[in-house]
Amino acid sequence: MRSHYCGDLRPEHIDAEVTLCGWVHRRRDHGGVIFLDMRDVKGIVQVVFDPDTEEHFRRADKVRSEYVLKVTGKVRDRIEGTLNPDMATGAIEVLGKQLEILNVAETPPFQLDEHTQVGEDVRLRHRYVDLRRPEMQERLAMRSRVSTFVRNYLDKHGFHDIETPMLTRATPEGARDYLVPSRVHAGSFYALPQSPQLFKQLLMVAGMDRYYQIVKCFRDEDLRADRQPEFTQIDIEMSFATEADVMAVTESMIRDLFNEVLQVELGDFPRLSYADAISKYGSDKPDLRVPLELQDVADLMQGVDFKVFSGPANDPEGRVAVLRVPGGASLSRKVIDDYTKFVGIYGARGLAWIKVNDVAAGAEGLQSPIVKNMLDVVPELLARTGAESGDILFFGADKANIVNEALGALRVKLGEDLQLHTCAWAPAWVVDFPMFEKDSEGRWNSLHHPFTLPACDVAQLQAAPGEALSHAYDMVLNGTELGGGSLRIHNAEMQAKVLEVLGIDAEEAENKFGFLLRALKYGAPPHGGLAFGLDRLLMLMTGASSIRDVIAFPKTQSAACVMTDAPSAVDDAQVKELHLRVRKPVSENAEHAG
Ligand code: AMO
Ligand code: AMP
Repeated sequence: MRSHYCGDLRPEHIDAEVTLCGWVHRRRDHGGVIFLDMRDVKGIVQVVFDPDTEEHFRRADKVRSEYVLKVTGKVRDRIEGTLNPDMATGAIEVLGKQLEILNVAETPPFQLDEHTQVGEDVRLRHRYVDLRRPEMQERLAMRSRVSTFVRNYLDKHGFHDIETPMLTRATPEGARDYLVPSRVHAGSFYALPQSPQLFKQLLMVAGMDRYYQIVKCFRDEDLRADRQPEFTQIDIEMSFATEADVMAVTESMIRDLFNEVLQVELGDFPRLSYADAISKYGSDKPDLRVPLELQDVADLMQGVDFKVFSGPANDPEGRVAVLRVPGGASLSRKVIDDYTKFVGIYGARGLAWIKVNDVAAGAEGLQSPIVKNMLDVVPELLARTGAESGDILFFGADKANIVNEALGALRVKLGEDLQLHTCAWAPAWVVDFPMFEKDSEGRWNSLHHPFTLPACDVAQLQAAPGEALSHAYDMVLNGTELGGGSLRIHNAEMQAKVLEVLGIDAEEAENKFGFLLRALKYGAPPHGGLAFGLDRLLMLMTGASSIRDVIAFPKTQSAACVMTDAPSAVDDAQVKELHLRVRKPVSENAEHAG
């Protein structure tokens, strides 16, 4: 239908006769001359109709925003003073000669420029209009470039793209399952995969050597800005591979990807242990663009006359830590109060602080609501933190996990608010994860998943599960967990032991994972892998603040699709066929009651 794309026209096309197809981005009437900004997937170009072309001019006069047009005309120079350096096509325009209206459009629900603030609900309800915005088109185009790059890279490195089932059994990755009732097997359910974890391991047992898949995963969990109920993984598995092998091939994939698509050089990825990450940054996905570190001061605070500090300092599960912020002494009371509220989100009961106005003056040079309670330890505190005049020290004192989360999040927020970032991109590997962590009821849970290889033998694992480290590794970029993986257990006895530590007895293990345990007995090779979150990768690469901005048709925070109205009620007959009966939702009952 067309000879050129709107966005491709340049001065070299001057005098060429072109036929363009696209949408009316904007229409302006300038004293008898009509300007149409015409938009297609490549960009926007200005088309001018003057009254000489009578019939076509009359049509141009009728068109409105988002009408679909076919226009034929001649490319020409823009006259002096009308050049638009902000537009790729801003040096030229098209003098329209013929105009055909291919389709009309109702007034769009919102303006398609970046400047108009539109509620996300409206955008998602009319997603096909929202996606016409150049910004969204660029994000989806980048997504396509990224997956093409990944496919080529992995193909070149001997990985096979193999599909795994969507209707399957539960794969434990720590979230709730999405279930699909079976019509044929009354009372039975498939689960949608939380990841292809077990199938990719079975493909290694099957001798496929290297597998990858760009694959949908489904997790029914609380949604946040970087989580969706269905999301996409770049899922990878390799046989006869060490931890270093998996990390090398995946690290160089990400490095090459950034180089190729963003022209960014990521350099080598530093490695830090889980224990160091938590201790220095309060997080297992530290944002290393921020040059602040947490420091332990519990040993100093054990004897101070301030229960808020001495309590946790003497509690084996407690932590007292300090975050020194260079230049922070100028923060106002109001700002400090806001940060106190902020750490409250993470369960912190307060945010003690000391402003270091004059470090040479010792306690005299400090300004703080708490310092009078700890005068004895001030010299050591200042020395240990390396405090300088003009700094502020923020304190967290509580159970270790609360201090870590609160100060960890504060560290990242200060990094943004005070513009402390030392670089644009800070990748890292976090390694040496513990195998298990205890939940609030004292049960062991996997830190990764139950198929992760411990870094100890069966006897040691049994004797001290809490001390066992694992062969797991996470790739972190700018404070986001981009991907996670591990070497896997390829030995049936070790797998049974790990399941036992997790409180899964032999019968339940057989029932849930019998197929895996059997496969491990038929010559399973040592293997390991990793999965990246493709959506999160794209969020970082495009700078989008929400995961929904890099997915064509995402779900809302309440896991709904407002465009199609999914999920939705279904016919009684369909429910019956699935051997189900729908109970009245609890909320409806509650509404009627109250
Ligand atoms: P994991 O559970 O760490 O590991 O997931 C791998 C990566 O997937 C992304 N991710 C998500 N992205 C968007 N929305 C979600 N709800 C969501 N959940 C996870 C993250 C994460 O790093 N089978 C293992 C991988 C392996 O061991 O090989 C797994 O699924 O970026
Ligand atoms: P209070 O004695 O409770 O008034 O607290 C004195 C200071 O300690 C205030 O600045 C509080 O914000 C702070 N604070 C209280 N509890 C904690 C805590 N658990 N961790 C860090 N600071 C705290």
